[in-house]
Amino acid sequence: MKNKMAQKNYYDSCDNFDILELGTANGRENEYRKRFISRRAETMADLAGLDGESTVLEVGCGTGIYTVHWIKSSKKLYGLDISRGMLVRLREKIKKTDSDDLFTIAGDSERMPFRSRRFDFVMSVNTVEHLDDVPAALREMRRVCRDGGKIVVSVPNGNFSAKYRAKLMQTIEWLAARLFRGYACSEPARSRGDDFTHQDLSMDDLTGAFAEAGIRVEQKGFMGFVPHQVIPARIARYLMWMEAPERVFEMIPGLRSVAGVIIVCGIADGGAG
Ligand SMILES: C[S@@+](CC[C@H](N)C(=O)[O-])C[C@H]1O[C@@H](n2cnc3c(N)ncnc32)[C@H](O)[C@@H]1O
Repeated sequence: MKNKMAQKNYYDSCDNFDILELGTANGRENEYRKRFISRRAETMADLAGLDGESTVLEVGCGTGIYTVHWIKSSKKLYGLDISRGMLVRLREKIKKTDSDDLFTIAGDSERMPFRSRRFDFVMSVNTVEHLDDVPAALREMRRVCRDGGKIVVSVPNGNFSAKYRAKLMQTIEWLAARLFRGYACSEPARSRGDDFTHQDLSMDDLTGAFAEAGIRVEQKGFMGFVPHQVIPARIARYLMWMEAPERVFEMIPGLRSVAGVIIVCGIADGGAG
């Protein structure tokens, strides 16, 4: 309960979430980061098989950084988040695109306010690592997903070797903050408090939670090597050529265990939930 309040309080007042998350500095967008977010959203949509005809739930939608990519490939998209502040920011964003197909709901991912088997697809990005009970949230995702529907979850890669990557990113951040005026780093300046959960989840942790929740893992993948979250916006656009080698590295066993994010796609087998 303490963590839920900490999440809600932090994200309700996180007015600069998009600036931090998108790595924008002095109004300049981080092109590499933007491109990576599109690629991650597309990869997840492809794994799910979003077809434009389905009802989709996004758990922990936040300000809609990924939501906006999935609206066109959904008939109806429901965004659930514990923070009303984040949902207000998402609605502001959507107002500009005039979409009638998005519904935002304030609620807890561990006790979702939806009837069973309501959705064709359930998607979630960068959220379950903030929950105390990951299998409980996945059980809820399973419950609200129709039999045969897909559940696709992506989180930062929290395995042991990925921690070296985290160290590298901290060093880049430290340097960039000294070299570039107005540099926006990925970590929030304001403390998130002791009760705020952020756990390191490895591929095994995440697939294990899927299995525990009765979701059959169909596909899994690793994405991203370039530390785009911390690359200053003004130099990120010169690094776009690195996407091609990055895509190759993502296919190499061993090497890909140091990738930045993991994605797991599962199918809601009949009988569970
Ligand atoms: C790091 S943000 C990610 C937001 C968005 N998915 C993105 O990638 O930009 C984590 C989100 O999870 C939400 N969250 C945390 N705990 C939650 C819970 N128990 N139920 C629903 N949402 C929760 C937060 O409010 C926040 O919007």
